[in-house]
Amino acid sequence: MLKFPAPFPNAIFVCTHKRPDGHPKPCCADRGGRQLREELREMVKEKGLEGQIRVFTSGCLGGCEKGVMAVKYPDGELMMSVGKEDLQQILDDATGD
Ligand code: FES
Repeated sequence: MLKFPAPFPNAIFVCTHKRPDGHPKPCCADRGGRQLREELREMVKEKGLEGQIRVFTSGCLGGCEKGVMAVKYPDGELMMSVGKEDLQQILDDATGD
């Protein structure tokens, strides 16, 4: 195994997990997880934050009833019921603004 420092200090994982239609348990894909991930990526790009924040796709984070779920590292903050209105705050928290 090789180890080296990540070239970005903050990583945000957004759940985009999709369950089959009709599944009794909700999923973040059906609550807009994929769109939120893309919007967050666009905002990072537009604001020139690529060197500070990387946005990743996550599988199920285990809080499906409270989705869309996301988690931010290095602080390990778990976020639930994330909506479009929260994205700017998520970026501000990650950059310390
Ligand atoms: S499907 Fe997103 S947390 Fe479970």
